Amino acid sequence: GGSSSRGPVVVLVGPPGSGKSTVAELIAAKLGKAHRDTDADVENTAGKPISDIFVDSGEPAFRAMERAAIAAALTADDVVLSLGGGAILDADTRADLAGHNVVFLDVSVGEAAKRVGLGVARPLLLGNVRTQLKNLMDARRPLYAEVAKHTVSTDGRAPEEIAAEILEHL
Ligand code: S3P
Repeated sequence: GGSSSRGPVVVLVGPPGSGKSTVAELIAAKLGKAHRDTDADVENTAGKPISDIFVDSGEPAFRAMERAAIAAALTADDVVLSLGGGAILDADTRADLAGHNVVFLDVSVGEAAKRVGLGVARPLLLGNVRTQLKNLMDARRPLYAEVAKHTVSTDGRAPEEIAAEILEHL
């Protein structure tokens, strides 16, 4: 296949724990292209981890930095791009993604919780965080679907298999 539009070869979106970074890395390696991740771009620009940006400056400041990082990354050719899980909350970002080859890595709440370390242990402590993850994913699912050209289910599947499915569509 192959799209005639310029910019990243593919853009991966999805919630935390959907496997964006791992799968993007595998696709990039297969294609011999660079993997670019907008969380890393924001951290490089800010000179500190995202958790510190949230604490020091607040989420709105982070989202503004993220929006700028994504707009810049979308002009890069020949990269495999992964976005932060909340990137699609921004309407300008959703508009910027139109015309790009966006793939939504779908995942169940239970599997995403496991992958980000919210397993079955300590339900009393972690139950509330899991509920937050569920609420966040329920609220965002329509936005991932809105920007995506393809949706790929990731539950119970190895990253290599998911990467292979995406490569088939390129
Ligand atoms: C966020 C997801 C994170 C990061 C930030 C906010 C979110 O990226 O951008 O902590 O709102 O879902 P990952 O999806 O790579 O964890």
